[in-house]
Amino acid sequence: MTSEFKLAPSILSADFSDLKTALNQCEEGGAHWVHVDVMDNQFVPNLTIGPPVVKSIRPKTEKFIDVHMMVIEPEKLVEPFARAGADNITFHIEAAGDPDSVIDLIKSCGCKAGVSIKPKTPLQDIIPILDKVDVVLVMSVDPGFGGQGFLPGSSEKVSKIKKLLADNSLNRVLIEVDGGIKLHNAKEVIEAGANVLVAGSEVFNSDDPVQTIKDFYQLSITKDK
Ligand code: DX5
Ligand code: ZN
Repeated sequence: MTSEFKLAPSILSADFSDLKTALNQCEEGGAHWVHVDVMDNQFVPNLTIGPPVVKSIRPKTEKFIDVHMMVIEPEKLVEPFARAGADNITFHIEAAGDPDSVIDLIKSCGCKAGVSIKPKTPLQDIIPILDKVDVVLVMSVDPGFGGQGFLPGSSEKVSKIKKLLADNSLNRVLIEVDGGIKLHNAKEVIEAGANVLVAGSEVFNSDDPVQTIKDFYQLSITKDK
């Protein structure tokens, strides 16, 4: 079994007055992606980052910018985030009236398309669009805030999605897991089939974010032995 995965540090837990430092830490630690949590105070009870912030960070990093939209009416924000420089745009299945058209819109803007699913949403809800997306983002906390605990059952959900993708010859679709990912539970999630791990508080609330990012990647090496 391969243990290759990408780490996507979430800048939600970084110092918003000094995002350049957070981006440099992602670079130095060797993170593959930078995860941007967009919250609209409607789909979730929090308000965070909009397209202008993505536009500001775009020239400061060559990392893959992964925009996670926790918003109602996602179709209204696709083009602004694409223009700002997003590489991937993920919307929530619970927020989309017409998921197919959201995916088409994201792709027409030249971005990768992701769909996210909240912990209590049945897997069946994403099955009809699995063949159209590039990423399935499995929420392992209720979306809205960083620093929450990883919900039990999330790894099982990842395993089920992995099987579903394999059964349908969709192994190209990445499984990303978001919420409560720590160094101590990352291995479990990777073994369940995750390709991308989002980590916010574990990275940016640590004393040494660069070393913490490196420690995540070290986990995969240890596992191979
Ligand atoms: C939660 C966000 C997450 C969050 C993860 O709604 O989608 O991306 O930043 O933070 P941690 O890793 O602290 O749970
Ligand atoms: Zn997120």
